[in-house]
Amino acid sequence: MNLAIIGTGYVGLPTGVGFAELGHRVVCIDKIPQKIDDLNNGKITLFEDGLEELFDKNRKNGNIRFTTDMSAVRDADFVIIAVGTPPHPVTKEADMKYIHAAADELAQYLSGYTVIATKSTVPVGTGDDVERIIREKNPTARFDAISMPEFLREGFAVHDFFHPDRIVVGTESEQARAKVRELYDVFPDKPNILFVTRKSAELIKYASNAFLAVKIHYINEIADFCERVGANVYDVARGMGLDSRIGNRFLNPGPGYGGSCFPKDTNALAYMARKEGVDLSLVEATIAGNDARKSKMATRILDVVKDIPNPKIAVWGLAFKDGTDDVRESPAVQIISELVSRNADVTAYDPKATETARAILGDAIKYASSAAAAAESADVVAVLTEWPEFKDMDLGKIAKLMRNRNIIDCRNMIDSRQAAENNFVCKGIGK
Ligand code: UDX
Repeated sequence: MNLAIIGTGYVGLPTGVGFAELGHRVVCIDKIPQKIDDLNNGKITLFEDGLEELFDKNRKNGNIRFTTDMSAVRDADFVIIAVGTPPHPVTKEADMKYIHAAADELAQYLSGYTVIATKSTVPVGTGDDVERIIREKNPTARFDAISMPEFLREGFAVHDFFHPDRIVVGTESEQARAKVRELYDVFPDKPNILFVTRKSAELIKYASNAFLAVKIHYINEIADFCERVGANVYDVARGMGLDSRIGNRFLNPGPGYGGSCFPKDTNALAYMARKEGVDLSLVEATIAGNDARKSKMATRILDVVKDIPNPKIAVWGLAFKDGTDDVRESPAVQIISELVSRNADVTAYDPKATETARAILGDAIKYASSAAAAAESADVVAVLTEWPEFKDMDLGKIAKLMRNRNIIDCRNMIDSRQAAENNFVCKGIGK
């Protein structure tokens, strides 16, 4: 099958490379010439575990190619739109300008029957807009505009592409459904394809991400309660998770959820519901609670050093989660901003995200080249991202470097026995 993918970001690139690996002929289209030049020269433009080998292989064997030229959709049986839908700075609604521009631009090149699938996370009703825009531009085009939301996790995009829990497809066209089956027929383990209406598919993505965000916020609030009453949130989560109706995943307490999806999607869903006059109070409470959590974490860190003159704070972790250099809506960056606004002296270390964080935080903080270097003469270490290396720290060595021995462990990674042996005051979350 000939496949065109518009947008080469965290969704478009792994999707394009994945389909190329499974034997489809893929062309990836992006507006940014530098990105396309890099990709054509064999330089991968984002980090995803396992992506680079597959990208190299399929670029060399010609299964995937890259261009800025939208006319490349001419040969495609299937077009996937995977451009960004950034949040509006004030209303937080998803900005549709890139989706609309892509639909408008591709319309003139359609030849033969083509499926146009939107993979970007888009408000309910976007499929109707895409269909109208294409129809207006090219009244004789034969196409179906369908919704095919993406559920890839950052850092696991390659794994998730090849082993999806489900493929959600929104269309009532039998011709489009047949094309989707053909697209996924190349998978060695045939994925579960759920066909629904276009609007339902669009909402499944928001409803799923908001549900997961609510689940995380819920366990964070239960963690706060555990601290107050002397229970252990891990025991509580384990006990809850054994009930198959609840499930044991996404019950890890922490500094709040971040990343490019949960904050954006919960806000966009809440915005859509308010516009429709529907009360999504649970989602609204989650958004507010998750925002407030960042400043509570900053207070927790400052409280342990409040009696120390000119305290120095070491932060371990800047990325929104481990395995990525992404700092979009990272709790670590938001907590640090709050610390800085309260005049704290911060030195941070992250194995991958120093440069991306520097682009936001600039020289408001110092950056260290190792966790130990960040801890030097610090009064407290705050663990804000769950990088595995923080679990294996030699706390004896760290203790000798620090001025005072405090740890605020927002990811519950530090071995409490080792911390106690080295006379640390170590405070985790929910225990
Ligand atoms: C998420 C969804 O998982 C994915 O299906 C969707 O398509 C895109 O959004 P991603 O943003 O890559 O993926 O990260 P994820 O691993 O889900 O974590 C999101 C945030 O929640 C992170 O900040 C993480 O630290 C936090 N989290 C996750 C918790 O605090 N506790 C948990 O139990 C799980």
